[in-house]
Amino acid sequence: MDRVNFRVNGKPCSVGREVSSDVTLLDYLRVGSELRGSKYMCREGGCGACVVAAARAGDAPVAVNSCLVSVTSCEGWEVSTIEGVGSRHAGYHPLQKTLAKHNGTQCGYCSPGWVMAMYSLLQSKKKLTMLEIEQSFGSNICRCTGYRPILEAFKTFAS
Ligand code: FES
Repeated sequence: MDRVNFRVNGKPCSVGREVSSDVTLLDYLRVGSELRGSKYMCREGGCGACVVAAARAGDAPVAVNSCLVSVTSCEGWEVSTIEGVGSRHAGYHPLQKTLAKHNGTQCGYCSPGWVMAMYSLLQSKKKLTMLEIEQSFGSNICRCTGYRPILEAFKTFAS
């Protein structure tokens, strides 16, 4: 196989095997696909600004730091980005609406990563407790430090 095939928001994508393994999934999304909702800050897996949901066929999606993954290793992946979860044109996802309603967006830079982390968690586990939601907060950083409204928003998804 001379190409790496995967899907982004349901759309078939591929890169040639000649692509350097240094090209991350985040680079591919932001530069190659012009999907700039996934942000970057640390580029070393520490901030969660770049989180997307990814799954292999038949598996539940998991939150992935797209800055740490080479796009050449995404064969067979189903990738969802914030653009695929909700937008002004297509309509916002309940996670996005709730985050905004609770004033959890603040400067907004980290919001896509937060939404995608929570989206992945909800996809992988249909029922979440408040404790599980709180414990999931280690994966993302809000540089405005406004964690309380983000937590209050996402706790509304606990069952
Ligand atoms: Fe910080 Fe990817 S950019 S975790």
